[in-house]
Amino acid sequence: MANPLLEVRHISKGFDGTGVLEDVSLTVHEGEVLVVVGPSGCGKSTLLRCINGLERIDSGEILLRGKPITGEKRDLVAVRQKVGMVFQSYDLFPHMDVMGNLLLGPTKALRRPKAEVEAEAMAMLKRVGLEEKAHALPRTLSGGQKQRVALVRAMLMKPEMLLLDEITAALDPEMVREVLNVVLDLAKEGMTMAIVTHEMRFAEAVADRVIFLEGGVIVEEGAPAQFFHHPKTERARQFLNTFVYEAAKKQSENSADA
Ligand SMILES: Nc1ncnc2c1ncn2[C@@H]1O[C@H](COP(=O)(O)OP(=O)(O)OP(=O)(O)O)[C@@H](O)[C@H]1O
Ligand SMILES: [Mg+2]
Repeated sequence: MANPLLEVRHISKGFDGTGVLEDVSLTVHEGEVLVVVGPSGCGKSTLLRCINGLERIDSGEILLRGKPITGEKRDLVAVRQKVGMVFQSYDLFPHMDVMGNLLLGPTKALRRPKAEVEAEAMAMLKRVGLEEKAHALPRTLSGGQKQRVALVRAMLMKPEMLLLDEITAALDPEMVREVLNVVLDLAKEGMTMAIVTHEMRFAEAVADRVIFLEGGVIVEEGAPAQFFHHPKTERARQFLNTFVYEAAKKQSENSADA
């Protein structure tokens, strides 16, 4: 197996004395897609934020390609370039057009030539079906379009891995697919990713490995086919059952509408 790109070793993190993550360890190998699922408040976002350096960990260690990115000598600018993150809210700069938003990081932080980045950005916009929107302002885009721009923006920083935190949670159902398809394409191309999602079908399709987090602890870890169809723990079974119930409810609502 390829070398570990990311290693999280025994990290703990609390807020104001309340533990949120407890002794969490995980590894993500190069080209691998790890999906993290679990109930609301279990610490999924906190875990991603710790990896990306947005939160400081209380104990443990996080390594990128074997080098610690936590501790006294951590270089947050370097970490955030190497570990890209996309959130539920797209946070594009509202006064800049799409291209302006895309050029900012690569030209300012990476000091790459504008023309070169522009050509790359155009090619990527085309791939996600947004070449006509290069000069549109964010407020004129749909949520799904904004989120695809946010993904392009993260990829233009040429990160070694991407962290995606519920990137479709704020979208209308019809826009979810167009965004998830972009993520599936990135996975096929070998992009290393850690993904938090409530979209269980997508999770199963995209994951190489799944982690089930509850109460800040990894309760179960496994291959997607095993986790989604034959969970080992009662807790995971219960968690997955709520989704089966919701999906069935949605389906019966839809057929009632028809
Ligand atoms: N900055 C903060 N200060 C204090 N408590 C926080 C902070 N950030 C998160 N928490 C708490 O940590 C716990 C885990 O939060 P987190 O956002 O990681 O959960 P989550 O699994 O991402 O939930 P969701 O599925 O709802 O997004 C929650 O109890 C939350 O209230
Ligand atoms: Mg969250």
